[in-house]
Amino acid sequence: MLSARLPLVLVVLALAGGDVAHQVKDELPADFGAAQPFGLAREVRPRDEARAALGRKLFFDPRLSRDGSVSCASCHLPEHGFADPRAHSVGVEGRTTPRNAPSLLNRALGKSFFWDGRIETLEQQVLQPIENENEMGNPVEEALARIGGGLSRDELGAALAEFVRGMWIGDSPVDRFQGGEFSALGVEERLGLWVYESKGRCWRCHSGPNFSDEDFHDTGVGVREGEAEEGRMHVTHDERDRGRFKTPTLRGVALSAPYMHDGSQATLEDVVAFYKRGGNANPGLDTALEGIEITDEDARNLVAFLKALSRTAEGERTGR
Ligand code: HEC
Ligand code: HEC
Repeated sequence: MLSARLPLVLVVLALAGGDVAHQVKDELPADFGAAQPFGLAREVRPRDEARAALGRKLFFDPRLSRDGSVSCASCHLPEHGFADPRAHSVGVEGRTTPRNAPSLLNRALGKSFFWDGRIETLEQQVLQPIENENEMGNPVEEALARIGGGLSRDELGAALAEFVRGMWIGDSPVDRFQGGEFSALGVEERLGLWVYESKGRCWRCHSGPNFSDEDFHDTGVGVREGEAEEGRMHVTHDERDRGRFKTPTLRGVALSAPYMHDGSQATLEDVVAFYKRGGNANPGLDTALEGIEITDEDARNLVAFLKALSRTAEGERTGR
């Protein structure tokens, strides 16, 4: 009886609490994003603090959305690595997004944005969700009028982008280990790092200090009956780019379940099992996935390593 009634109760709550349910409060530390952590390539440009502070306010401001119900933080939740714990996010009027909202950590190091890289700069990117029908569904001009203060379109983009640039994650035990503090990683984590760098082949795409080559690959995520989604091809119109999606960073990844562009993998264990079987077969499958050999023990160690990449040495700020 109870189990039959439960879904209805949830639906009623979701409808009644429309506005409230989406609101996410700013509980970040006052100096959030001020300093770039150890272990990452240096970003040269210093941060514009006034601009970032404005961007921070706007990131949590539901007035940007058509009906005032959704803010950026509704889908990019701070305690989930600024990703969405739901496979598909919910925007205005209960509309759902076709893709999973990715983590926004370390996007200052991004070379292109969105899973198919269709946008080139963060300044342009941050205005897209405001107008997107499934997200905030509001013309930017309308959003600007509501915020007031005579802000221009460019200033809005610059402010949001400056705040997003401060969403750093670094200084993990892996960075400490690679810097010579050998006790920073436990045995399983160390073995996992080795699998990542050798027979797991993870480094082939998740490379460099941010564990991403910022390039596009076909791992077979989203393949149905042997056919891949468009992915990067949507941007380049080149058939060879069918099924290719942007390599996400592995930093902070323990915070941002579920995984992949469609949120199809629930846990890190599931992701590693996906690679263990060589991804999903399709004509464009990346050759780097051929012949990956991971034992069950390797898989456990890999997961431990991925979790270590999500802690900071101080263990603060990222929800350790
Ligand atoms: C309704 C949910 C929703 C809202 C609201 C939302 N986003 Fe997103 N965001 C997404 C989804 C889904 C994607 C991935 C879409 C894709 O790749 O096609 C995304 C992608 C992004 C990316 C690209 C990240 C990358 O690595 O490529 C950035 C940056 C971003 N959002 C910032 C923002 C900002 C800033 C706001 C507020 C102005 C915002 N988002 C509002 C769901 C949302
Ligand atoms: C051929 C390049 C390639 C290789 C090799 C590779 N990855 Fe990936 N990885 C990707 C791409 C591309 C995605 C996103 C796929 C998608 O959503 O369509 C991804 C997604 C992920 C995600 C999900 C992250 C998120 O935020 O959703 C994790 C975790 C991950 N990979 C871990 C690994 C591990 C561990 C290995 C080694 C066993 C590995 N990857 C090997 C390219 C690669």
